[in-house]
Amino acid sequence: MQVFHHVASLRQALNTVRSTGKTIGFVPTMGNLHDAHIELINIARQHCDLVVVSIFVNRLQFSLNEDWDIYPRTMQQDMARLREANCNYLFHPDENEIYPNGMDEQTRVICPAMSDVLCGASRPGHFEGVTTVVAKLFNIVQPHKAVFGIKDFQQLALIRRMVEDLCIPLEIIPAPVHREADGLAMSSRNGYLTPQERTKAAVLNQVLNWARTQIKQGRRDFAALEQEATTKIEQTGFKVDYFSICHSSNLQPAACDDSAITLLGAMYTSRARLIDNVSLKL
Ligand code: PAF
Repeated sequence: MQVFHHVASLRQALNTVRSTGKTIGFVPTMGNLHDAHIELINIARQHCDLVVVSIFVNRLQFSLNEDWDIYPRTMQQDMARLREANCNYLFHPDENEIYPNGMDEQTRVICPAMSDVLCGASRPGHFEGVTTVVAKLFNIVQPHKAVFGIKDFQQLALIRRMVEDLCIPLEIIPAPVHREADGLAMSSRNGYLTPQERTKAAVLNQVLNWARTQIKQGRRDFAALEQEATTKIEQTGFKVDYFSICHSSNLQPAACDDSAITLLGAMYTSRARLIDNVSLKL
C-alpha cells in the first residue's frame, strides 16, 4: 500500500494509473476503521482495478460542541487493516492540505434539498461540511466509482444529489449496513457506549424493524407509528432525536401511497448519538 499526504503526489500517481486504462474505486473515511469500512473496500475492489481510501477527520462537518477533538484517531491500526484488505493507495492529508485557505474562507458545496432535516436539524452545518469535503475529495481522486454505506442514509442521498446536480462524472455505489450480531449498526461511535448501554443499543434497530413490519402489514398512520416507536425506544432509557418515516429518494415525510419508504432513527446515549435506518418497497 502506498501512502500519500499531498494532493499533488496522489494526483500524479493516479494519472499514471488512469493512463493505463485501469479503473479507480474510492472509499472516503474518517479512520477508526471497523469491519463495515473493510466491506466498503471489498465492494470497491469488486467494481474497480485499484482502490483508494482516504482518512481525514473533517473538522468542517463537526459543530463546536461535537466530538472532533476526541474522535478516535487510530492510524497504526487503520494502516494494518488497510494492508490486510489490499487497499492500494491511502490518502491521509492534514488540514492545511485540504483547507489551504483556511476553513472560514473555504468555498462550500450546499445541497439545500435535504441538509436541514433529520440529522441536519440537530447538527446544523454538518452536511454542508460533508458535501464540501466529499466534493473536494472527488476532485482530488477523480475516481470512476465511490462507495458509501447505506447506514448514513441521509449522507448517501445528499451525495447522490450533489453528484447529479454538479454533473460529477462518477458512479456512487451504496453498500449494505454492516451489523453486529444483535443488529446494532457498526459505527466508529459505538466505541463511546458504556457496557450497560451496549447491551441495549440494538433497540434502535429492533424498533425500526418492528415499525417496518407494521407498515408491511398495512398501517399507514405514520405519525402515530413514529410516536409509538419513539416511546418504545425511550422505554429503554435512550432519548430519541428523531424517528421518521420518509420517502426514500427525497427524505420528505412519507405519503400513504408511497412505494419506496425508508424509516430513519437517531437516539442519544450518554456520549454518542447513534443512527440507523431500514427501507421497504410496497
Ligand atoms: O461518512 C464519513 O465517514 C464522512 O462523513 C465522510 C464521507 C468520510 C466525509 O468526511
